[in-house]
Amino acid sequence: MPRKIIIDTDPGQDDAVAILLALASPELEVLGITAVAGNVPLPLTQKNGRTVVELARKDTPVYAGCEAPLKRKLVTAEHVHGKTGLDGIALPDPTHPLQPEHAVDFLIDTLRAHAPGTITLCPLGPLTNIATAFQRAPDIVSRVAEIVLMGGGCFEGGNITPAAEFNIYVDPEAADIVFRSGVPLVVMPLDVTHKALTSRAWVEGMRSLGTPVGQAVASWTDFFERFDTAKYGSEGAPLHDPCVIAYLLEPALFTGRHINVEIETQSPLTLGMTVADWWRVTDRAPNALFMGGVDREGFYRLLTERLGRL
Ligand code: RIB
Ligand code: CA
Repeated sequence: MPRKIIIDTDPGQDDAVAILLALASPELEVLGITAVAGNVPLPLTQKNGRTVVELARKDTPVYAGCEAPLKRKLVTAEHVHGKTGLDGIALPDPTHPLQPEHAVDFLIDTLRAHAPGTITLCPLGPLTNIATAFQRAPDIVSRVAEIVLMGGGCFEGGNITPAAEFNIYVDPEAADIVFRSGVPLVVMPLDVTHKALTSRAWVEGMRSLGTPVGQAVASWTDFFERFDTAKYGSEGAPLHDPCVIAYLLEPALFTGRHINVEIETQSPLTLGMTVADWWRVTDRAPNALFMGGVDREGFYRLLTERLGRL
């Protein structure tokens, strides 16, 4: 029986690869893709979500969600993802329709319509949609099986400020709601995703698939890599969001600890920091499986095999 998931996302080249990985994997049933403002504004993230579904030749429904964080002005990341959010290759405008229902209503209705504990939420961007759904319909919180998200950092620090990772920084109040919700959490922080770097050989392997998906993935990662190479001097692009989907498919690729993680929502200096009690120096209750390691070879083997199916 495939695992039912909802992907909440702000495509974003790495979101796009994560969506393709999920759509290529029969172990997963993607009930819907909910777009949120993040890397680029909502009109672009919802359009990019539809473009990726169309590229995969699937009919997964795509919904538009929140266009701004709960309490703050939207911060975007065109400097990383380009002005379209999917720079790297010119793809035709999608004909795959946008669903009329708001993403938050879709989240609420879908969780209410399915048996408790049967749906996993996979947030790949700021947590605004998820937090808004939890605030509007508290009854759905206990119905969520698990949340597996990309966000935060511990020893790796931040990527948008010295202390904060982008997804959490954009909407720290939303992240605080999710991290305090009591829903079982699996967190893929920068500590893991910065180890999931592409290699030149892998990117060229994607290109040599000779498929539209292979071409797109190679061009996206080429584009996406320039930011991290310039900033960290690393060879390769960190495929942040695909780590979430890879965990669902092969959890043994990852290692981590069940610890307490709380979100800084007050300090201007450390706003959006995930304060991860990795060494358990407090008596704060563990609320997240916080990942620290990944089998890079195994991760890219899985990606290559699955993306080659599309
Ligand atoms: O910090 C990395 C995260 O921010 C990824 O999800 C990327 O897509 C951006 O949303
Ligand atoms: Ca993302």
